Amino acid sequence: MTNPSSPRKIIIDTDPGQDDAVAILLALGSPEDVEVLGVTAVAGNVPLALTQKNARIVCELAGKPETKVFAGCEAPISRKLVTAEHVHGKTGLDGPVMPDPEMELSEGHAVDFIIETLRSNDAGTVTLCPLGPLTNIAVAFQKAPDIIERVQEIVLMGGAYFEVGNITPAAEFNIYVDPEAADIVFKSGVPITVMPLDVTHKALTTKPRVDAFRNLGTKPGVMVAEWTDFFERFDKEKYGSQGAPLHDPCVIAYLIKPELFKGRHINVEIETGSELTLGMTVADWWGVTDRKPNAMFMGDIDADGFFELLTERIARL
Ligand code: RIB
Ligand code: CA
Repeated sequence: MTNPSSPRKIIIDTDPGQDDAVAILLALGSPEDVEVLGVTAVAGNVPLALTQKNARIVCELAGKPETKVFAGCEAPISRKLVTAEHVHGKTGLDGPVMPDPEMELSEGHAVDFIIETLRSNDAGTVTLCPLGPLTNIAVAFQKAPDIIERVQEIVLMGGAYFEVGNITPAAEFNIYVDPEAADIVFKSGVPITVMPLDVTHKALTTKPRVDAFRNLGTKPGVMVAEWTDFFERFDKEKYGSQGAPLHDPCVIAYLIKPELFKGRHINVEIETGSELTLGMTVADWWGVTDRKPNAMFMGDIDADGFFELLTERIARL
């Protein structure tokens, strides 16, 4: 476990999405490891009106209605929004029926919250955890370039190399939705750790793992099991896999137990020109170019250790 002395300060940027929801629960269930300064919603899996509402639903489910939740960008920097209701359902949190949130949305735009938080905390002490398209992060960098060098690290879910694409043959959804934003982030110079499909597709919600959530008997535990039951039908059909990949919780698990993951520090660039391969993360895994390494690109996970951590922390809520 990390937690050398004090919890890591993080902002979770998210497009809930059942897997985003599990990531938020993991973070809010791990106060000794991560201090959630705020949750910033972005359009992605479903439109912004739903992602900001879903983020609040999840914070209330975690018993943390005091969490600051902000609405961010409702569309990519320069493209039309592409959503993923075919995976996450119309609400973005299909599976169990959830009541509307009672907690209010925080005042102000998510981009301004990201800027103000980075300016008001000591440089190098705030980690950004994007779990959706990178629009909010890129717009914050464009609006306030002074914050870029103040970011401790960006740990994001996105991209793919050996696993190739899940929304097109070449691209993973988060990067594909806003490739221009991803290009800004990957060229920013901020230390980046990437959880691509190469690793998240090894974090599958097999039946014993889902039963472990359900057998917690707590509301969060049962919700996670029901979200998974809904969410996994898409991946099982498409990949014939045993369960669904729990993509986004890999980001938070890395902050708590980095030893669960293995990867390489390599160069990763984003395709923004070709319509055929738009949003592809061109990862120089074999070092065949002299392009400067700019990202720790994860390739492997201790899946049993990951689910053990996830179940233990969600049991606390
Ligand atoms: O491609 C998977 C990613 O896209 C996950 O973050 C999922 O929530 C969606 O945002
Ligand atoms: Ca997501």
